[in-house]
Amino acid sequence: MKDRRKEDVLLEVEGLRTYFEKNGVTVKAVDGISFTIHRGEIIGIVGESGSGKSVTCLSILRLIQQAKGRIIFRGKDILSMKEKELEKIRGASISMVFQDASFALNPYRKISSQIIETIRMHQGLTKAEARQKAIEALALVGLPDPQNRMDDYPDQFSGGMKTRIMLAIALCCGAELIIADEPTSSLDVTVQATILDLIKSINEKNGTSILLISHDLNVIAELCNRVHVMYKGHIMESATVSELFDRPLHPYTRSLLSASRGDNEQVLYISGEEENESPCPFYPRCQERQLNCLTSPPPTISCGEQHLVSCWKYSDGRS
Ligand SMILES: Nc1ncnc2c1ncn2[C@@H]1O[C@H](COP(=O)(O)OP(=O)(O)OP(=O)(O)O)[C@@H](O)[C@H]1O
Ligand SMILES: [Mg+2]
Repeated sequence: MKDRRKEDVLLEVEGLRTYFEKNGVTVKAVDGISFTIHRGEIIGIVGESGSGKSVTCLSILRLIQQAKGRIIFRGKDILSMKEKELEKIRGASISMVFQDASFALNPYRKISSQIIETIRMHQGLTKAEARQKAIEALALVGLPDPQNRMDDYPDQFSGGMKTRIMLAIALCCGAELIIADEPTSSLDVTVQATILDLIKSINEKNGTSILLISHDLNVIAELCNRVHVMYKGHIMESATVSELFDRPLHPYTRSLLSASRGDNEQVLYISGEEENESPCPFYPRCQERQLNCLTSPPPTISCGEQHLVSCWKYSDGRS
């Protein structure tokens, strides 16, 4: 991933902020994050429940109207695009795979009509051609007997099969970017592994970029090139997967890693309600906080190639 050129950039998220107002309180679900996805790259976002991962995904496709900032896809800002232009991108250039298939698949319509409709919306194919293409894609993602199962309803498929169907739709449309939000978390371990293999092979064969969301660092390690660690709407640390595992810097990343390795360290959770007197979202739980943390937001420090950490601890160049 060295020397990536600007032309290789597929998606650039700049200063994304998605705030919700709830009973007079502002929930800062995503609070000023920036990252880039290059062509052919698999980027991971990891963070525990409530850290803003799903809101980030939905904001990228402008499925949440509160999203502010810039989301540049192939040079154009999704957040200021006309709805018609955006419709062309949704489902065709950028496909989304959800943990919960009910977001993507209508339970009252046969799989065949849903896939064929999506293909025809974005490509000038006849119904018969689109059906053939759908069967081929379903076979490619390993759905058994696709010819006969095409006319079943979503509820007649298992969770793993529904994930395969969503990936088939992404394949049919020739998506350049697949956003996969916890695509395997509700599946058992063996199905999880085959779905991860499938995502990897789509990336390798078609050069499709993938944004993979997970709360599970092992899933991220398996698949991703680079990873961003999110906490309470902020990116705390970004690095290549090998850097992050070999040299985790942020106190939060370290605690996440310890928890994933089953060490005896306290497993953190986000209550969202705690008092925080510091601009750093991790301050209340940080074991390494300093006086600086109370006065100004943590600076983002470069601690090596493609390794950024948002923490005062590294402001004097130590890492
Ligand atoms: N529509 C909404 N209105 C108000 N608050 C919301 C809305 N959607 C999300 N939130 C809040 O935004 C924060 C981030 O939510 P998000 O769903 O992005 O978390 P997540 O990292 O995907 O968690 P999980 O791992 O559980 O899926 C949470 O505090 C959540 O309650
Ligand atoms: Mg989520």
